[in-house]
Amino acid sequence: MFGRRGTATPGATPSPKPFGDTDKAKDKPAPAPTADKPAEDDQPVEAAPPSAPTAEPKSKADAPLSNEAKEKLDEVKVNVFNDLMEAVDLAELSSLTAEQVREEINDMVSEIISMRGLVLSIQEQQTVIQDICNDILGLGPLEPLLVRDDIADLMVNGPDVCYIEVGGKMEKTEVSFRDQAQLMNICQRIVSAVGRRVDEASPICDARLADGSRVNVIAPPLAIDGTALTIRKFKKDKLTLDDLLNFGSITPELKQVLEVISAIRLNTLISGGTGSGKTTLLNCMTGHIDPDERIITCEDSAELQLQQPHVVRLETRPPNLEGKGEITMRDLVKNCLRMRPERIIVGEVRGPEAFDLLQAMNTGHDGSMGTVHANNPREAISRVENMIMMGGYNLPSKAMREQISGAVNVIVQAARLRDGSRKITHLTEVVGMEGEVVTLQDICVYEIEGEDASGKLVGRHKFTGMRPSFWDKARYYGLEAKLAEALQFTGA
Ligand SMILES: Nc1ncnc2c1ncn2[C@@H]1O[C@H](COP(=O)(O)OP(=O)(O)O)[C@@H](O)[C@H]1O
Ligand SMILES: [Mg+2]
Repeated sequence: MFGRRGTATPGATPSPKPFGDTDKAKDKPAPAPTADKPAEDDQPVEAAPPSAPTAEPKSKADAPLSNEAKEKLDEVKVNVFNDLMEAVDLAELSSLTAEQVREEINDMVSEIISMRGLVLSIQEQQTVIQDICNDILGLGPLEPLLVRDDIADLMVNGPDVCYIEVGGKMEKTEVSFRDQAQLMNICQRIVSAVGRRVDEASPICDARLADGSRVNVIAPPLAIDGTALTIRKFKKDKLTLDDLLNFGSITPELKQVLEVISAIRLNTLISGGTGSGKTTLLNCMTGHIDPDERIITCEDSAELQLQQPHVVRLETRPPNLEGKGEITMRDLVKNCLRMRPERIIVGEVRGPEAFDLLQAMNTGHDGSMGTVHANNPREAISRVENMIMMGGYNLPSKAMREQISGAVNVIVQAARLRDGSRKITHLTEVVGMEGEVVTLQDICVYEIEGEDASGKLVGRHKFTGMRPSFWDKARYYGLEAKLAEALQFTGA
């Protein structure tokens, strides 16, 4: 019954079908995705073959296919797909696990190919099966990229352009979508999994993949050249301070000081640009919190992976389709205060919740931490000031700065340098106020000295020799020796 259409018709074109009804799609092989399947998968999935050699270790396409071979394969895919859709019982498929569906599709496609009398190499057959599975079960042409663990970010700029970030470097991929409709379709499938939709009326949407990766979609007309889809891949194996040490982001001494800082409950702001490694560093530093402490984390999208036993994780919620039910970071931080926290950890401080976090820091929740988007410690302070103003507090700026300098003990600055490497560039202490100005004191700074032959930056971490004012606190927690050793003070 598979081969109903007889032999492969070389001229067969995919029947154009509407792409409209896709928002009900789910990320599972449930009836919903299948509903829009024919539409989406009529397409020859042309993107996958070129990406396969580099991206998908499983597909055996070792060399890029010639254009002619690619076209032929695309056509085969369309035909096989159409046959599959006629033969397969979608309702039944939806009751299977992804793995079982893959197996089922594998068997059926092999059968269709032989019934059609198609001559395909094993490699080509694998590619066809892989692409069809990806379209039915997953996110189509993006699938080979999503399985790669080395990719940090995935950026789709309209249907024809897709970049990835690998090892700190931006790379253009061969991945493309058949057209804007297929891309939109996939975006819709992603966001519908979290109960949202993206269309002309609401063209901006945040979502999360099942594995925890963060997704942002911005559709036309706002995105002029087609939907922009940005995925920050969720890293299963989080980096540790030892990893940062191996990467040269910190030195052994700096690592030791950072450990002391989180153990002795200093209020810490981690500052840095996008992708500079703030969240990673925050996660690393939480590793040195005492297991007895009650920690509450507030995040826009749960990324932190605390190892302590006593952790409550909270996440904000965007408004629903009717624009209702939003829970902001501020709501969470405020609520946190009523949950008897010992430490509050805010994934990203970017709005009026800054005020509430400072209040918490000022009222006995020592050791609270958060990240802010700023390019240096001084800027981090003024960012926080701005955020407080955003909240509509009518505080004179001096009072505001006093709040900040009273609350924050240290600022750790992360940066992504132009050679793609990530460094902790400052460890800075907030020491007080001088007139109207918050006084900062660097404990350690990274100084760039030049560039080697291969274009990598050369530099080193320099301790300024200042005796940190948290020395006594380190002594109180029995960590004076560790701090002294790191700073190479011989007993002060
Ligand atoms: N010191 C580091 N060296 C190498 N890669 C890092 C380092 N810190 C973070 N990364 C990687 O950089 C990416 C962005 O890190 P993340 O902590 O999410 O940045 P941010 O929170 O500042 O946007 C992640 O893939 C992470 O694994
Ligand atoms: Mg982050």
